[in-house]
Amino acid sequence: MRMVDLIEKKRDGGELTNDEIQFMIEGYTKGDIPDYQISAFAMAVFFKGMTQSESAYLTMAMVESGDQIDLSSINGIKVDKHSTGGVGDTTTLVLAPLVAAIGVPVAKMSGRGLGHTGGTIDKLEAIPGFNVEIDNEQFNNLVNTNKVAVVGQSGNLTPADKKLYSLRDVTATVESIPLIASSIMSKKIASGADAIVLDVKTGSGAFMKDLEGAKALAKAMVEIGNAVGRQTTAVISDMSQPLGYAIGNSLEIREAIETLRGKGPKDLVELCLVLGSQMVYLAKKAETLEEARRKLEEVIANGKALETFKAFLSAQGGDASIVDNPNKLPSAQYTFEVNAKEAGFVSEIISDKVGTAAMILGAGRATKESKIDLAVGLVLNKKIGEKVEKGESLVTIHSNREDVNDVIERIYDSYKISQNPVDSIPLIYDEIN
Ligand code: URA
Ligand code: CA
Repeated sequence: MRMVDLIEKKRDGGELTNDEIQFMIEGYTKGDIPDYQISAFAMAVFFKGMTQSESAYLTMAMVESGDQIDLSSINGIKVDKHSTGGVGDTTTLVLAPLVAAIGVPVAKMSGRGLGHTGGTIDKLEAIPGFNVEIDNEQFNNLVNTNKVAVVGQSGNLTPADKKLYSLRDVTATVESIPLIASSIMSKKIASGADAIVLDVKTGSGAFMKDLEGAKALAKAMVEIGNAVGRQTTAVISDMSQPLGYAIGNSLEIREAIETLRGKGPKDLVELCLVLGSQMVYLAKKAETLEEARRKLEEVIANGKALETFKAFLSAQGGDASIVDNPNKLPSAQYTFEVNAKEAGFVSEIISDKVGTAAMILGAGRATKESKIDLAVGLVLNKKIGEKVEKGESLVTIHSNREDVNDVIERIYDSYKISQNPVDSIPLIYDEIN
């Protein structure tokens, strides 16, 4: 087999076989097939697309290019949740203990934040003592005992995807639905989940800015999952404004605690219930989505979700007393209010700009090497549709530096105030399964 023939076949709109895709991915991983040929192939896919079968073959070839996590010693159906990335997205911190509280095993491998989006592992490190580096055996044991454990990414998962993603980044081929879908799904499948719930974001802060693109990506991922025997469902949710109020590591832990107590921001609570219901249903802990939702509401109301969160923190060395005493979490030296320059209604909050404002404050990383400040971040006081008076606070900045003019400017840039009342926007656009 020759790579040049496979490029030509795809260029002319042909469909590749499983053997051909395996040949290409194995050769690329080993270094036998050079970047320039894979670049040409990625560009051909960008223009010609891939069929459902090709996407599934590509996904599995990337899964098989490296280690695969074995979760078989964990009892029950392991359901993973994946978000395509948002600003102030606190859902994993809430969902993990929430669904674990009704017996769904959560064996979660999470990443760190980069750019304007945050990562669950960073957020958990705001909890004194919390350890994200545990070995496989300990991880599996913790899930069997507590139903939930979260670990940082380790091992050599999907090396083919790592190489291909970096190459796409510099060859203008990131924006191809079958390539994005197989990239995301390969990582989820290699992490060992039996079933997958995808939260595909749409809006200004999302990777897929428009609804049609988000739906197409969701559909492609669901088809791949179902084709390779991992039951997959997707929820399309709004990221045209940050989720909840808090953005920043320690601040989001506080927000997660409030949410598990039943006092969370309306949008965050609703998204957790929608995604959580899908997880519970796929794990076969409820017959219908409605029953799943009732069970989730029950464990929030009776305190079981919060108890599960405490047990989870203690089991990984974290100080669980922060749950009843959040003042023990890292907190910033200064707070500043960003006050509205005019009265009106909030009509827009450009999420990626707000995310970048939090990042330059130190809550996120500009590059993989940047150090983050767990204490700092932003708390939104007004969201889309809310009425605001002149001089009222839009956002509270939590900072460890005294001069935050650069952050304030970005916040003014991201908030649009309209003179007329504004319709609120939907949180959930669609569910695909
Ligand atoms: N995120 C991924 O992991 N892969 C892509 O291709 C795009 C976004
Ligand atoms: Ca939040």
